[in-house]
Amino acid sequence: MLILSFESSCDETSVAVTRDGIEVLSNEVLSQIDIFKDYGGVVPEISSREHVKGITLVYKKALEDAHVTMDDIDYVAVTCGPGLIGSLLTGINAAKTVALNYNKPLVGVNHLTGHIYSASIDHKVNYPALALLISGGHTELVYMEKDYSFKKLGSTSDDAVGEVFDKVARILNLPYPGGPLVDKLGKEGVPIYNLPHPMAYSNDYNFSFSGLKSATTKLLYDLEKDNIEYKREDIARSFEEAVASTLERKVKKALSEYKVNEVIVSGGSAANSVIRAKLSKESLGVDVTFPLMKYCGDNAAMIGISAYYKIKEGEIDDMNLSASSRLDL
Ligand code: KG4
Ligand code: ZN
Repeated sequence: MLILSFESSCDETSVAVTRDGIEVLSNEVLSQIDIFKDYGGVVPEISSREHVKGITLVYKKALEDAHVTMDDIDYVAVTCGPGLIGSLLTGINAAKTVALNYNKPLVGVNHLTGHIYSASIDHKVNYPALALLISGGHTELVYMEKDYSFKKLGSTSDDAVGEVFDKVARILNLPYPGGPLVDKLGKEGVPIYNLPHPMAYSNDYNFSFSGLKSATTKLLYDLEKDNIEYKREDIARSFEEAVASTLERKVKKALSEYKVNEVIVSGGSAANSVIRAKLSKESLGVDVTFPLMKYCGDNAAMIGISAYYKIKEGEIDDMNLSASSRLDL
């Protein structure tokens, strides 16, 4: 089964062609990151306009790279939420146009299931599995007994992991999106500062990261106020250590309650080196799958892979498909 998929929920315009929920034939990604560096974050109105500008070219390139035409495509899939409403609409309108024009069935995909299924690219997940999704907008811990079954165990009550990385990056004078830059800076540092591990020992699976951002701000403020020499590298590394240890603690708690064969860690912040090291097979005592780096951030390939499993459940949409900024699992 060949699926043509669209992703435009935030600041990446992406179109992919995937086969049978496992193989990626093409995955074109046009990022708006360079535009938003000057703004310190995504500006929704500008993002929607950039998606409109880029989507036709990205669509054509995705078909070209996969060496297929629309005649070969069986389904058209598209992210329908959660995300920025104007940005989502561009992808949905493009997908509807193509589906209508070529008479193909349309499938709306939840962006969060897309991130979870990025771990299924070139890899067969051994269920039951535990999925930890850490992106710019979401932090979710999910139990999956089998394919396309999602039991949400917990989520963040304030900032998402990627969001707190971006905020701490700003404190450290790094440009948007700061996650990768904090990662790079932290590699030169030592975790000498003890920052809080928020909610790590709470008796649930929820997270909270905004207090960690405040604690990091206060640490920097105190060091400067008292004229104490410090290295930004050490602060970055200490912050990463606090995030990674908190995630590790919650995953271990879930593993003690749910018997799983595999842990999946996905989303933009799954690219982080300290998190990757901390959530290892050695540490968790179970197989751990991180998607390839290029599939951690937003991309249409993961949407096509997730769509395959939704189609297998017999869930198809129609031209009434609408965008939803707040879609849960
Ligand atoms: O999944 P994603 O591309 O978009 C959302 O759906 O939100 O995630 C983007 C987030 C940004 O906050 C970015 O700073 C973070 O992922 N990120 C990282 C790293 N690379 C990207 N966070 C920590 N370490 C990284 N290496
Ligand atoms: Zn995302």
